[in-house]
Amino acid sequence: GLKIAVIGGGSSYTPEIVEGFIRNYDQMPIRELWLVDIEQGKHKLDIVGNLAKRMVEESGLPIEVHLTLDRRQAIKDADFVSTQMRVGLLEARKKDEHIPITHGVIGQETTGPGGMFKALRTVPIILDICRDIEELAPNAWMLNFTNPAGIVTEAVAKYSRVRSIGLCNSPINVQKFLAAQYEVSEKDVLPEFVGINHLHWVTSCQVKGEEKLPEILSGGMAYTAKNVPTVGWDADFLKSLGGIPTYYLKYFYMTDYMFNEMKEAMEKNGTRADVVSRVEEELFELYKDPSLREKPKQLEQRGGAYYSEAAVNLMNSIYNDRKDIQTLNVANGNIYDFLPADASIEVNCVVTAQGPIALPPRNVPEHVKGLMHAVKVYEQLTIEAAITGDRGIALQALVHHPLVPSIEVAKKLLDEMLEANREYLPNF
Ligand code: NAD
Ligand code: G6P
Ligand code: MN
Repeated sequence: GLKIAVIGGGSSYTPEIVEGFIRNYDQMPIRELWLVDIEQGKHKLDIVGNLAKRMVEESGLPIEVHLTLDRRQAIKDADFVSTQMRVGLLEARKKDEHIPITHGVIGQETTGPGGMFKALRTVPIILDICRDIEELAPNAWMLNFTNPAGIVTEAVAKYSRVRSIGLCNSPINVQKFLAAQYEVSEKDVLPEFVGINHLHWVTSCQVKGEEKLPEILSGGMAYTAKNVPTVGWDADFLKSLGGIPTYYLKYFYMTDYMFNEMKEAMEKNGTRADVVSRVEEELFELYKDPSLREKPKQLEQRGGAYYSEAAVNLMNSIYNDRKDIQTLNVANGNIYDFLPADASIEVNCVVTAQGPIALPPRNVPEHVKGLMHAVKVYEQLTIEAAITGDRGIALQALVHHPLVPSIEVAKKLLDEMLEANREYLPNF
């Protein structure tokens, strides 16, 4: 039987992954599931963990569910370690989203200055986790969901020996969306992804073996998630873009519009973190009900819906050497000649027992390379800043981010956000 450790086990998303383990038990028999959290998350861990235990009990399967604050015990001899923690909790996310808006900049938890500070808080912690894995479970695979997943995954690849893969729920949702549009099953839809995490374009999409990209683009069919303001794409732009853009690209292609939307939404309902904390309260009330023995429908209000399907699929394919295609965050190698080999990219991979093998996309529009490169430069500066604690490098990261308009704004953001994050950034 397998041992799985989930770091950040108190997450309201946990019932999803538990459901995934139960559904896949035939192919992936799990003996031990360890949900790990920290003192500040203990109350959430208890509520979610007890629901997890009831779900397993309902299934009748012999999976042991352990709840712990002892990360090392959870990691020891694990086959898979999945990371879904939020360093600084929702309080820190509020600041990531709020402060940039007050300086006229997009305030988002994974994109722009907010994402940068989430990365600065997270990189030291993920590397601590990696030290534990290197020592206690050197053969484990780490599946990283912790955002910004592209940056965090790249930091792990550069600064540890842990075998790791970054995951986002967005590719699997794109596939589900297109399957629903064409009323076919998901396996009949093969989208090809070009880009990096939260900055991708689908540049080919076969439905039952037939190329449908032009039709999809002229029909304006693009998936959007619950966490990003809903607005359609400009039809003329989409037709000539050459790829279906992820909803996160709205921040880059419609910056003024998205900024105004976010500012208005913030004035009305607070930041997305405020909205999420209300959704969470509602979810935890449901989770507490002892008669609830399954994942509740209301979890779909979160932007990360189906993330665990992606996680369970990935573990299953590694464990069973399934050699199927999944969209993952892995090292570039020689896929894109304009990015460093150690850059993380989001790309279709064949998943084997030895890990994912990236498949080079057949079609990479020339005009998407610039943004990919610019954002990757920012990401690499961010990793360097996280490792060194160097303010100069942090300033370069901010100024080189395409959403930051000037040195002056970058400096103000840097000062204010460093101050707001002081307790999590001791090396700055
Ligand atoms: P959350 O706020 O519920 O946090 C999850 C848990 O992490 C909390 O219970 C918290 O106490 C715990 N935690 C904080 N620091 C920790 C540490 N050092 N060690 C262990 N646990 C710790 O967060 P959430 O909304 O469930 O999201 C969790 C993470 O997953 C976030 O980083 C989020 O951005 C990410 N996420 C990613 C995707 C994706 O597509 N990759 C999808 C959904 C969520
Ligand atoms: C998804 C992203 C995740 C992100 C989540 C936010 O679209 O792929 O990476 O964490 O949305 O959802 P939330 O409900 O927390 O705002
Ligand atoms: Mn994501």
